[in-house]
Amino acid sequence: MYRGMNNSSALLYLIASVLFILALKGLSHPASARRGNVYGMVGMGIAILTTLALPGISNYAMIIFGGLMGGTIGAVIARKIQMTAMPQLVAAFHSLVGMAAVLVAMAALWSPESYGIGNSGSIHTGSLIEMSLGAVIGAITFSGSVIAFAKLQGIMSGKPLRFSGQHMFNAFAGVTLLLLLIIFCASESKLAFVAMTLLAFAIGVLLIVPIGGADMPVVVSMLNSYSGWAASGIGFTLGNPLLIITGALVGASGAILSYIMCKAMNRSIINVIFGGFGGETASAYAKASVDRPVKNGSAEDAAFLLKNASSVIIVPGYGMAVAQAQHALREMAQTLEEEGIKVRYAIHPVAGRMPGHMNVLLAEANVPYDSVVELEEINNDFASTDVAFVIGANDVTNPAAKNNPQSPIFGMPILDVGLAKTVIFIKRSMAAGYAGIENELFYQDNTMMLFGDAKKVTEDMVKALKH
Ligand code: TAP
Repeated sequence: MYRGMNNSSALLYLIASVLFILALKGLSHPASARRGNVYGMVGMGIAILTTLALPGISNYAMIIFGGLMGGTIGAVIARKIQMTAMPQLVAAFHSLVGMAAVLVAMAALWSPESYGIGNSGSIHTGSLIEMSLGAVIGAITFSGSVIAFAKLQGIMSGKPLRFSGQHMFNAFAGVTLLLLLIIFCASESKLAFVAMTLLAFAIGVLLIVPIGGADMPVVVSMLNSYSGWAASGIGFTLGNPLLIITGALVGASGAILSYIMCKAMNRSIINVIFGGFGGETASAYAKASVDRPVKNGSAEDAAFLLKNASSVIIVPGYGMAVAQAQHALREMAQTLEEEGIKVRYAIHPVAGRMPGHMNVLLAEANVPYDSVVELEEINNDFASTDVAFVIGANDVTNPAAKNNPQSPIFGMPILDVGLAKTVIFIKRSMAAGYAGIENELFYQDNTMMLFGDAKKVTEDMVKALKH
């Protein structure tokens, strides 16, 4: 273990690990997130330099070439990517971690001497177990993330793919995988290794295809956790304690995030792990949009309502992110506050398309943290609020989650905007949100629809409020 390490590199690795833990702690609150990022970057700097200085690391030209190539691709993607495409980017990056784990395990099996884990034909059993776990978790992470990417990118339908006997089939595949793993660890057979890895790739696909669009947030955080455990597996094979710790940190925090997301959507984590839960075909429940009357207002009407309110709760959603309306929204809120109106922002845990999506955008627009309130803390206040101002949000307000057991989002806690005296919805059309279902609130007596791009409409409202 810890092959090729001396005391000073072990100490530097320890410092980097502590910095990673501080980074995670910092990221738990918007006010300390910047500091957390700095800890993370310093920790990663120390980790990279220490690793490069390890005895046994020699081919610097190759490392620099690889680093430059990967770094350039990463930098270009980071500059170009739209905030709204973040979930699929995260899924794509998870797939790379998974594939790296598979490749490292393969390299270790084919050239054990280079890894100091024994000789071909007599690799230490512990190392065989480590590399098989790394390869299996890595392969599941890779193919699962590719499917998640395809679903989120719209290359593949977001609808759950089911077939009869699916759970039995998955259970059979799981047992076969376990048997192959045992055969490999007992015999060091390369054939068993290849069969086990190919089966793990297939299981990754089988696990993710039955999961419906509305449940993708949980899937993304779950794959994040898997990628951490896969990295930890590589750490064991490479004998690198920092990689083991970092992988475990990612694995554990991803698991905690998955749990939080499950709670937010009222899903069972067991069902998520074994796939194929809840996410029924969303569109099957979307009623044909027959022409039903809705109250349709203008920016001036909305400004009038807001100006005469004494309390307003803003509910941001995915549409605010698409329109990049957060700055205009902040200006609108400020104008209202100057008039003595109480303004708060209600955040649903799965609003937008990634955990913390709304918080990041509001922080970018310098919205004060103390006016941004989580669902559980604010939900009881809607009933005593004059205006619920819903900007680009839909599913997270949909009462079908409470009163329609057939709905794919049934059971998910929602923001009770319908209880406010008046509800204003800004969106471009009557179209459904991510889950593909109609929202009865649009037709409620106290609802006013404000059709248009969220940024444009909010800017018009600011103008109307100021004049
Ligand atoms: P959605 O239910 O997706 O609704 C967003 C609404 O924004 C749409 O109905 C759309 O209506 C409107 N919109 C889009 N572009 C707009 C623009 N430029 N201006 C104004 N409105 C615009 O969003 P939500 O309420 O935030 O709920 C999130 C959904 O995403 C949930 O179903 C959740 O499960 C899912 N999801 C979440 C995550 C995470 S981790 N947060 C990840 C993946 C999926 P129009 O087209 O009519 O404008």
